[in-house]
Amino acid sequence: MDAAAKKSISVTVNGAAHEREVEPRLLLVDFLRDTLGLTGTHVGCDTSICGACTVLLDGAAVKSCTVLAVQADGAEVLTIEGLARGEKLHPIQQAFWDRHGLQCGFCTPGMILTSYQLLRRNPNPSEAEIRHALDGNLCRCTGYQHIVDAVREAARAMRPRSGGRLRAAARSGRSRS
Ligand code: FES
Ligand code: FES
Repeated sequence: MDAAAKKSISVTVNGAAHEREVEPRLLLVDFLRDTLGLTGTHVGCDTSICGACTVLLDGAAVKSCTVLAVQADGAEVLTIEGLARGEKLHPIQQAFWDRHGLQCGFCTPGMILTSYQLLRRNPNPSEAEIRHALDGNLCRCTGYQHIVDAVREAARAMRPRSGGRLRAAARSGRSRS
């Protein structure tokens, strides 16, 4: 395909702006992996079933094997590489580590990004809500119980700050309750 057929896109990925010329048919997952070298986003099926390619597009979990790179023009993308802060894992990553939420790890980036969306929308999900949120993410090498446990653990880890502030406020007499 000649360069004239390419489209110019501008995408912010994990906080970094990228401008590229891409073929209109290029999938977002291939853009992330092959153009930007972000290989943490995996391809498990290419048919929108497994969820291994899940990333956040403007905050919404999408299967990047069924999104075109040109559809991400002007958008913000978060991939698994954008979660940790240096050596410090994101609480969801830490919980997957601590609760044995991964075996081979192939599905894990997608699981974690779907969980990230869930916990932003619902900081205290029930087990049923976690299982429902993750039903588009397949893990082919183990069961789901440890994954669910990890998400519950991450929810606990991500909640205490406001609880801590409320308790501190209550102790100092500033609570209205
Ligand atoms: S590779 Fe995208 S859903 Fe499986
Ligand atoms: S940990 Fe191996 S596919 Fe999920």
